[in-house]
Amino acid sequence: MRKKIIAGNWKMNTIVEDGVTLASSINTEIKNVTLRDDTFVIIAPPFTHLTFINQLIDSDKLLLAAQNCSTETKGAYTGEVSAEMLKILGCDAVILGHSERRAYYHETSDILIKKLDQVLKNHMIPIFCCGEMLEQREKGEHFKVVENQISEVLFDLSEEDFSKVVVAYEPVWAIGTGVTASNEQAQEMHAFIRKIISEKFGNNIADNTSILYGGSVNPSNASELFSQKDVDGGLVGGASLKADNFINIIEAI
Ligand code: PGA
Repeated sequence: MRKKIIAGNWKMNTIVEDGVTLASSINTEIKNVTLRDDTFVIIAPPFTHLTFINQLIDSDKLLLAAQNCSTETKGAYTGEVSAEMLKILGCDAVILGHSERRAYYHETSDILIKKLDQVLKNHMIPIFCCGEMLEQREKGEHFKVVENQISEVLFDLSEEDFSKVVVAYEPVWAIGTGVTASNEQAQEMHAFIRKIISEKFGNNIADNTSILYGGSVNPSNASELFSQKDVDGGLVGGASLKADNFINIIEAI
């Protein structure tokens, strides 16, 4: 079933004490929001917070995600965190291929294929990010860029595995800039993504894939973005760091 999802990507923000307070407020306030059965909220705090936050979540509408995981299962990989470790800490999902990881940590499609495999093997939901840079959009290459990002990593999956993936379209020029894609730009790209999924896996799987929009989502623009036909929710950075803002965005779904 195609789900509506609001995911908060905290990035490298909050020390554990503040993160616990934030998660606890979200956990409490979410209970006052009437969410449909097909709607879920995800928070992705830093690794160091996961154990503590997992212990306080008691809303069945609130899921926990990590922001990254290792390509490897275990062993001599200093500084890495495996998908199994995250699963055992209580993670339900892992964000993969965020543009910041692609840009600063040189994550390529080959690396993402391995991470995706780890996440799926450990029965978590991959939230797979894609999106073009400004120059690419200006040159009219945005559809090709997004198609390549998606096809290189996701199109060798079986239908069963692909059905577990959530896609997040995040134009790089809209991330953390305060410049949001227009409703039309978001809808156009989401419809394109659904079309290429349909060409590869068929209409039924494409119709059931959740495609989130990310990039400067805030309480004022969320409801219009989410009302677009192919936009199934949002991946929210900055505005997920204040419980009230995040709850307002959740209410917009
Ligand atoms: P932003 O970040 O909402 O702060 O633009 C979104 C993201 O990077 O996921």
